[in-house]
Amino acid sequence: MKIVVTGVGYVGLVTGVSFAEMGYNVICVDNCQKKIELLRAGKSPIHEDGLEELMDKHKNKIVYTSDYQTAYSNADVIFIGVGTPENIDGTANLKYIHEVINQILENIKKDLLIVIKSTVPVGTNDQIEYHLKQKLSNKVNVNIVSNPEFLSQGTAVKNALCPSRIIIGLESKEAEKIMRKIYRPLTDKNIPLIIMNRKSAEMTKYASNSFLALKISYINEIANLCEKVGADIEEVSNGMGLDPRIGNKFLRAGIGYGGSCFPKDTKALYMLSKKTNCILKTIKASIDINKKQRLKIVEMVKKDFNNNLKGKEIVVLGLSFKPNTDDLREAPSIEIVKKLIKYGAKITVYDLASIENFKKIFKNKIKYEKEIIKAIKDKDIALIVTEWQEIVDFELKNYEKYMKTPIIYDGRNCYNKIEINKTDIKYKSIGRIW
Ligand code: UGA
Repeated sequence: MKIVVTGVGYVGLVTGVSFAEMGYNVICVDNCQKKIELLRAGKSPIHEDGLEELMDKHKNKIVYTSDYQTAYSNADVIFIGVGTPENIDGTANLKYIHEVINQILENIKKDLLIVIKSTVPVGTNDQIEYHLKQKLSNKVNVNIVSNPEFLSQGTAVKNALCPSRIIIGLESKEAEKIMRKIYRPLTDKNIPLIIMNRKSAEMTKYASNSFLALKISYINEIANLCEKVGADIEEVSNGMGLDPRIGNKFLRAGIGYGGSCFPKDTKALYMLSKKTNCILKTIKASIDINKKQRLKIVEMVKKDFNNNLKGKEIVVLGLSFKPNTDDLREAPSIEIVKKLIKYGAKITVYDLASIENFKKIFKNKIKYEKEIIKAIKDKDIALIVTEWQEIVDFELKNYEKYMKTPIIYDGRNCYNKIEINKTDIKYKSIGRIW
């Protein structure tokens, strides 16, 4: 079976490499020549644990190319994993998907299965099939399948090879046979594969991401209330999470969710609900809560310093939207730094992977440090924005030793009370009472 994967971003590249690990020969196509060259040299354009090792292990099974004509005309199955960014109004922008579909149309020579992995609004797969059937002669048969991904950045390779479930939306028995065959190496390991209609598969993706986003916003609201009434969110989350009906995942309070998925997908689902006049009030609430929560530590600092941050030396620890990635898409750090600059503070930032990307946004408006001790040295205030393990493990006595005044606002609740109480650090976090 000739498998082609289009797009070498998080979804496409991880999918392609995982198929190689599952035993297939794969052609990875992307129109960005620079990325293709990088991949051919054994380097991944994205920062993802274990990915380059697998690329190396399977270098004889994976071909990277921008020659989509040849790839598409010989393919039996094409997986599409290109981006679906957000339009200004919050709807999903499908231009990259349409580009690929048109390229496929120009090059199709035989029966083909097209599998959409990208997150697309409900009904998109049906529209694509309709469009293709209008344009194609009856000589070739094309089937469209929705196969949303559930990869998390930082653990994407693991998630692809050992997913919690494989969701497949399709409308034909032929397509089902092929999809079951492709995923056989995983279903043989008892990973559940669920067949449903295409619209249900598309909705499963949006509903899953939005539910997780909602869970985070919920726990953040409870954390804010905890602060008012003297409860502790860590204890509350722990107490709630032990109920298997609730589960202990995604109950970590903090300064909200970021990344390329939750913010975009909640908005797209909300827009769909508006369009169909079936408004999802819970999702709207989650979006609004998250917007406010992102700036919570800035508001705390501002209040404690009587609205006067002018000239204060502030260090921001952690920039990426979550640890173990260099991704800054929708990262709270960006808005936080913008606000602090506006208030006249002098900013230094520290991160393990995204300093170079951050420089592209803030240029010489702020200082950059790749060593945490240098970053905190002589600073008035430290803000913890991303819970990199190196920050969590950083010894508290260092803040006392190197900062001008050891004051920490911890947006990710990295440190525990007992340890903090052994120091003279002035420490504030989210939803916890001292
Ligand atoms: C998310 C989903 O978890 C994946 O299942 C999905 O496939 C992916 O989106 C996607 O649609 O492609 P990802 O964006 O990589 O994955 O990151 P998560 O680990 O889900 O974290 C998202 C955000 O929520 C981060 O900013 C994180 O800091 C925040 N978060 C997470 C919390 O604030 N609290 C929590 O308890 C958990």
